Amino acid sequence: MSKIAVIGAGYVGLTTAACFADLGNEVVVVDIDREKVSRLKQHDVPFYEPGLSELVKRNASSGRLRFTNSYADAIPGAEYAIIAVSTPEGEGGEADLSAVEAAAKSIADAMDGPLVVINKSTVPPLTGDMVSTVMSERNTKHQAQVVSNPEFLREGSAIQDFMRPDRVVIGGHDREAAEKVARLYDPLDAPVLITPNIYTAEMVKYASNAFLAARISFINEIARISERVHADGKLVAEGMGLDKRIGSSYLDVGIGWGGSCFPKDVKALAALAERFNYHPELLNAVIEINRDQRMLVIDKLKECLDGSLDGRTVGLLGLAFKPNTDDLREAPSLDIARVLLAAGASVRAYDPAAMEGARLKLPEVDFRRDAYDLAGGADAVVIVTEWNEFRRLDLPRLKKAMGRPVIIDGRNIYDPEVMRGLGFTYRGIGRE
Ligand SMILES: NC(=O)c1ccc[n+]([C@@H]2O[C@H](COP(=O)([O-])OP(=O)(O)OC[C@H]3O[C@@H](n4cnc5c(N)ncnc54)[C@H](O)[C@@H]3O)[C@@H](O)[C@H]2O)c1
Repeated sequence: MSKIAVIGAGYVGLTTAACFADLGNEVVVVDIDREKVSRLKQHDVPFYEPGLSELVKRNASSGRLRFTNSYADAIPGAEYAIIAVSTPEGEGGEADLSAVEAAAKSIADAMDGPLVVINKSTVPPLTGDMVSTVMSERNTKHQAQVVSNPEFLREGSAIQDFMRPDRVVIGGHDREAAEKVARLYDPLDAPVLITPNIYTAEMVKYASNAFLAARISFINEIARISERVHADGKLVAEGMGLDKRIGSSYLDVGIGWGGSCFPKDVKALAALAERFNYHPELLNAVIEINRDQRMLVIDKLKECLDGSLDGRTVGLLGLAFKPNTDDLREAPSLDIARVLLAAGASVRAYDPAAMEGARLKLPEVDFRRDAYDLAGGADAVVIVTEWNEFRRLDLPRLKKAMGRPVIIDGRNIYDPEVMRGLGFTYRGIGRE
């Protein structure tokens, strides 16, 4: 059993805290957001992540997991402090590290003995050194060893990803501290890579996210070419994915990547490269392709609605950046809705989990009860997020409800022939 303080109660911090508590550790989570902490004290998880509420309840009830706003309450006595605060996009695309720096200062002020500080926030190489410097300048009495341990979990399957990781990456200038962090993961029996300096571990995270984003941008570019030469981009991806050297994951043709990680991380890596005098041509192309991909559904809508969106009613099925989350950060739905509204369309939306957050971001949108309510009298429906519940819609019922039976399938979840057979004007992505 170890004593762990987790800084930040977001998707990563709360999942990490609940999972480490479930593995038998004593965990306290500190967050500066008072409302979040007061809800968590009532065992109420303030965002949607499958299974997390149950895990939080179980471990908080057993006393292994607790929540506070105070570093002075969380840090003294802890052996490890895990930084899991946000690192949003900053100026010029670089990562904004102000929350990491603030967390480091607060940990240093509250520290009353030796501590291993684990940086789990996604940060560019050299950030670990910044954290070390801030802490040693701030607290000259006690020493902290700073170790990078990037997180690879995905929203929607965060607990599973944490508990059964493909790998655990740990990097530190101090081997002993890195090995101490590795011991926390012993119960998971996962492959552990310890890198002898902190920068390498920091870089593994950025490189992994950039590579996954590049796969999606690559297949979307192939899909756009496929569409022009009567090839089916979805089947092209399937044909490629069967090659063991290529594999099928992150090879989905659609409206591209979004979310709280890929957009900011690819931009931050590109900005980092520029700062160190390297022009990141490939990364820039990955970003550009993805930006354009979102607007494809707008072109397809126009094509199906006689060239104009003005006065049309368009329903968006799905708002979250991907299924099984309520996260709207950098979600394609937001760009699509704004472009439609600017073009004079009335926009409706339905999402199983993300409507509460979307109401604040898209006040002009009309939020509906379900897919059929959304379709009522609409000129077109766009499938934006591939939630499972959209995969088996009662299509004849949907068609009957619609004013015009136009479906733009931004995630290619339906078969074009079946859809046309049912009488829809149907457009997928990368296929005729
Ligand atoms: N969300 C993901 O899927 C994911 C996956 C892997 C890595 N990451 C990385 O993990 C980090 C956290 O991401 P997230 O999605 O959990 O963020 P989040 O925005 O959901 O949560 C961050 C939390 O940190 C708190 N916070 C901010 N400053 C603080 C401070 N000084 N002290 C205490 N708490 C503070 C915020 O109030 C918030 O609750 C980011 O660097 C992100 O890139 C995210």
